[in-house]
Amino acid sequence: MPSQTYLVIGASRGIGYGLVEQLSGDSSNKVIATVRKPFDFGKSNIETLVLDQSSTSSVQAAASKLSTPVDTLILNAAIGLDEALLSTTEDRLHEYMNTNILGVQRVVNAFLPALRKGTAKKIVIITSYSGSNTAQRGAEFGFRGPYAVTKAANNMQAVQLHNELRGEGFVVAPVHPGWVATDMGSLAINDRVPEGVKPMPVEDSAAGLIKVIDGLTTEDSGKFWGFDGSSMAW
Ligand SMILES: NC(=O)c1ccc[n+]([C@@H]2O[C@H](COP(=O)([O-])OP(=O)(O)OC[C@H]3O[C@@H](n4cnc5c(N)ncnc54)[C@H](OP(=O)(O)O)[C@@H]3O)[C@@H](O)[C@H]2O)c1
Repeated sequence: MPSQTYLVIGASRGIGYGLVEQLSGDSSNKVIATVRKPFDFGKSNIETLVLDQSSTSSVQAAASKLSTPVDTLILNAAIGLDEALLSTTEDRLHEYMNTNILGVQRVVNAFLPALRKGTAKKIVIITSYSGSNTAQRGAEFGFRGPYAVTKAANNMQAVQLHNELRGEGFVVAPVHPGWVATDMGSLAINDRVPEGVKPMPVEDSAAGLIKVIDGLTTEDSGKFWGFDGSSMAW
């Protein structure tokens, strides 16, 4: 593949960090990694931008510092816990919506000019099995409640963005990263998890995600994918 520029949102730790590590392992790639607190990845093909997706001014300031086209935007940042919708306060629900839903939209809006100048024109939202209506009906474990609501909304954001951008040759897709041993993923370990089931290492999820993301074509746009290339139920 010719040299590609990837923009990974939320790269300080977890899956985002793993994606940046592996993408930058190909020295022909340029990786722009966003973090909330200044962070040095120590590699010449990684540029960092400070960005908090819960703040419009922060997202716009980060976008204004970017001078290069972007081929692939990976919207990875999110907050999440296993909480019940009925016991979620309005403030907490607002925090979820602002970070996970509005945050994604802010980033897409701010970086769309750079994506339009890129060649791949890919927008990938890291959503979740928690955002699958089919999987969530009667779900016994995993993050349910408000987190699941925001991830289902992210799935629909991807479909609507697909509809609005496909005429320009964009590929937009939501991708589930699997259950991954990150700070967030580790919070889902509890006594309701079936015996023998455990989260996978970040490296495995990141490798699968990159293979899926790099392989996405316009035919795959607007569909929900798993990190292993499987088709996910909405
Ligand atoms: N782990 C899993 O099993 C799993 C399963 C399904 C889906 N996912 C999804 O995969 C993605 C990554 O999850 P993870 O497990 O790597 O989570 P994580 O370990 O909690 O890391 C979350 C990342 O998002 C960043 N972030 C949080 N709020 C942000 C904000 N307002 N603005 C910018 N960045 C922000 C964090 O930055 P700071 O370090 O500054 O907090 C961190 O880099 C999320 O979208 C999550 O919903 C994860």
